[in-house]
Amino acid sequence: MVFIYHLMEHLQSNTFSSFFNGQKLISLKRVSSTNDYLKQELSKSAPFPEGTVIMAEEQHMGRGQVGNRWEGEPGKNLTFSLLLRPDFLPAHDQFKLNIAISTAIHRVLSSFLGEAVKLKWPNDILVADCKLGGILIENSVQGTNIRESVIGIGINVNQTDFEFAPRACSIKQLLHREYILTDLLYELCSSIEQSYRQLKTPRFLAEKEYYITHLYGLGENKVFRQQNSERIGKIEGVDSQGRLIIRFENGSESFAFKEIEMLY
Ligand code: BTN
Repeated sequence: MVFIYHLMEHLQSNTFSSFFNGQKLISLKRVSSTNDYLKQELSKSAPFPEGTVIMAEEQHMGRGQVGNRWEGEPGKNLTFSLLLRPDFLPAHDQFKLNIAISTAIHRVLSSFLGEAVKLKWPNDILVADCKLGGILIENSVQGTNIRESVIGIGINVNQTDFEFAPRACSIKQLLHREYILTDLLYELCSSIEQSYRQLKTPRFLAEKEYYITHLYGLGENKVFRQQNSERIGKIEGVDSQGRLIIRFENGSESFAFKEIEMLY
């Protein structure tokens, strides 16, 4: 049971004094999933302010997209969930949140890993062809708008053995040095806060351009699996609903998440 681990919880306040993201940081030794923990606490009316961060040294049931597991060696990687309340955002625009989070993470990681960092639609962070991180955003909706958003982020940082996830890689493998997890958390929260603020302004259009520019496979011939057939096409961008636009021989088509998979 997740709540057993409350005993190991230690609360630090005002950790990131000038940013609302991360001002309330709950650091857990072991939890099922930081997303699940945050959602459970919210369902019990925990008075968490926007910007609350739950991080865990170890998740024993970490979740990825489409029911995948998210696994890693305890204490070596960054696994955290951030609470946002983008109640200004219509639910049909929820992909904008994905863009804001992805570009924020990309800015931080590319500042020390360079332009090889790519965003694989819709939620992966790759370097070359290996997976450095992933994003799992879970929204609750009230009326037409988003009420709360749990932003789960996993970044492989200091782990070097990926026997059970051969496509994964870490910052340490790329830079040959350790990265302090809380430093990276601080940088990510600051960057997310900046792009989140932009989400409310017309300047956000530039974020979408940034997102598209850094998409993995943009403009390259790639193989896509659609149901049981494989097709070759080139990614052109994403539309206003976050659907992936792919140009095939006979014209462009757009796809929602799970309707198409890029093979790489
Ligand atoms: C993916 O690549 O499919 C998304 C991975 C998201 C993993 C993070 S780790 C912190 C948070 N808690 C979870 O259970 N999942 C997300």
